[in-house]
Amino acid sequence: MFWKDPKGLKSIPMYSKIGITILLIVAGVGYLLGFANIIATYGPIDEKPGMSIQDIRIAFYGAREKTKLEKSIDGTMKEYFMDEAGYQATKDWIAAGAPENGFPRIKEIFDVSCSTCHSADAQVAGVVTVEYEDVAEYLKQDTGKSVSRLISLSHTHIHGTLPVMFALIFIFSFTLYKNWIKTLVIAFSAVAILADVAAWWLAKLAAFLAPIVILGGLTLALANAALILLPLYELWIKKE
Ligand code: HEC
Repeated sequence: MFWKDPKGLKSIPMYSKIGITILLIVAGVGYLLGFANIIATYGPIDEKPGMSIQDIRIAFYGAREKTKLEKSIDGTMKEYFMDEAGYQATKDWIAAGAPENGFPRIKEIFDVSCSTCHSADAQVAGVVTVEYEDVAEYLKQDTGKSVSRLISLSHTHIHGTLPVMFALIFIFSFTLYKNWIKTLVIAFSAVAILADVAAWWLAKLAAFLAPIVILGGLTLALANAALILLPLYELWIKKE
């Protein structure tokens, strides 16, 4: 059986070498896009450019000194206000305790700025900003990602990464690296999938654990780099 006695990636036919190379590169591009997606999603949360520990803390643990609504309009939703005055009026309304009798003025602002996504029909992310009752739900303390959202994210993330990691581990196991190196890289990669997701839960649990998310992401980055670069090296650079 060829998997009992691997002859290394050098020994496979040229068409397989090309196929595997393309697959490895596509997996690498896919990983980088996922990474860019994270920066784009979490970067704007704290009103400062770039992604920081503070962005992660707010996203998972929550900006507990604010309401969900204020967190959103200070972060990713800010750009949707038609003008600065609308943003300021909403901030003032929240600061005044978000009274229901002040909502008609805010409704005018939301109807122009937010309704493309948060009307009763659109309901992007399940959010509606049409009536006071709809908005009231977001006037509670911001506690970061909800448990149900985290469950859903963890589920899609694990099921999304697993097939890719499986393919990469499969290819890697036919290389001629020493057995202890293979064991290490493969075990680390499998653990990295879980570490990445486990870090989100820890960051949700306590504010000071936010940096763990970076560590979790780093383990996955490292695993991907090893599983992609080591086979490429053996395929094209290593001498017989
Ligand atoms: C182009 C579409 C779009 C527009 C316009 C938009 N939003 Fe959102 N909104 C989203 C998406 C997507 C999410 C979920 C992801 C996120 O929170 O960044 C969201 C989430 C939210 C949340 C929920 C945050 C939470 O913690 O659960 C609130 C509140 C919100 N938006 C308010 C607003 C307000 C107020 C406006 C207008 C100033 C607005 N949005 C305009 C797309 C939009």
